[in-house]
Amino acid sequence: MGLRGTMGINERGHLEIGGCDVVDLAARFGTPLYVFDEELIREQCRTYQGAFARHYPKGRTIYAGKAFLTIAMCRLIAEEGLYLDVVSGGELYTALAAGFPKERIYFHGNNKSREELVMALQAGIGCIVVDNCFELAVLDRLCEQLSCQVDILLRVTPGVEAHTHTYIQTGQLDSKFGFPLAQGIAREAVRKALEARNLNLRGLHCHIGSQIFDLESFGVTVAILFHFLDEIRDELGWTAEELNLGGGLGIKYNRDDSPVSPEEYIAYLARVVRENAGRSRLDLPLIGVEPGRSIVGEAGTTLYRVGAIKDLPGIRKYITVDGGMGDNPRVALYQAAYEAMVANKANRNKTQLVSVAGKCCESGDMLIWDLETPHVVPGDLLAVLCTGAYTYSMASNYNRLPRPAAVFAYRGSADLVVRRETYEMLIANDVLPPRLQGLEVRSVEQA
Ligand code: LLP
Repeated sequence: MGLRGTMGINERGHLEIGGCDVVDLAARFGTPLYVFDEELIREQCRTYQGAFARHYPKGRTIYAGKAFLTIAMCRLIAEEGLYLDVVSGGELYTALAAGFPKERIYFHGNNKSREELVMALQAGIGCIVVDNCFELAVLDRLCEQLSCQVDILLRVTPGVEAHTHTYIQTGQLDSKFGFPLAQGIAREAVRKALEARNLNLRGLHCHIGSQIFDLESFGVTVAILFHFLDEIRDELGWTAEELNLGGGLGIKYNRDDSPVSPEEYIAYLARVVRENAGRSRLDLPLIGVEPGRSIVGEAGTTLYRVGAIKDLPGIRKYITVDGGMGDNPRVALYQAAYEAMVANKANRNKTQLVSVAGKCCESGDMLIWDLETPHVVPGDLLAVLCTGAYTYSMASNYNRLPRPAAVFAYRGSADLVVRRETYEMLIANDVLPPRLQGLEVRSVEQA
């Protein structure tokens, strides 16, 4: 079982995270509950920062907020000295509300609205990553109207297909994101960006996918980018001060995953960037990476209370929990495979094979297909590991299930960072049109 970070098993045989017994956390905050190991998040941030300091001091770690973003998370990321990548007005609003340093914010997105761009410009954020020609023109005009200038990167698609799930691949040419390097499309975009009066083109951005294990995809990407930079230096006389290589480093969800450490990843990038810059006789650019999953993924654990248990002899034993695809849609969406443990029986021998089902009205709402556990009874506490990334941020209210609370556990104390939704919150946005307000509810016979 892959215990990570500060996780351990205490003398009561219970799982502990950040020095907190999770059985106590479940009693205090309820279930389902996202528990984050704050120490581990901080450690991951420091590993990235330290790796850059050791291997490539002109480096930037930009946390990809889409993995998990709340006000507390923004504060933590700011404290650790990271930059932040946001992809919507909502994420930007969260960062600004948290007082995140605006000059350390990058704004992404393939269809930023006018309102979102105005919000970013008025806030004075550090950099906008422009995705397409339409945005380039709109942004230049908005700057004109607001009498401001802004730093931009152009997002390009290098044509690299990283070996990952097709829904989370983004670097291939046929993609909704970015300017393809092929067919002169990116070159034309660079030309237009250089002509734009209010935009300062700092460099290029690319992101080839997510949950990537093989460093070579990044190496090939870097080589392709430098080849392009070499060409356009000759044609347009422009070189990039900054190359942002996106996120994508994989993590260990289960025993079949063998990720590379952030240290190896940065060391590798530093080496290939140096080699390629040397070969093309280009100055070393500032290098940015945008890790999301590898900062927060392994630090998250979701606690569920076990309810109904259904044994179909010779077929399967279902253990049902009080959450599921609402708080973690990744199994249904990407066939993600998680590990879990019975948190209040962490020392007991595993004697059976079960499947963990969620409580949504959908057969696809399964969390784990095959899990070895000790004897389980209703009321036990199941801890699904490695759920820090893309769970709360992708959670829904399907079946009108309230979204869970989240806590940061740190050195023996646990603090709420997201309140549990209530039933009142679920209906807070519902509106009753006047013609339905006076409706008398008819009896079945009248209807
Ligand atoms: N930068 C850009 C431009 C991105 O599009 C992404 C992720 C990242 C950085 C962060 O990638 P990471 O280091 O977290 O792999 N919902 C999917 C993942 C979608 C990733 C989208 N972009 C999942 O649950 O696996």
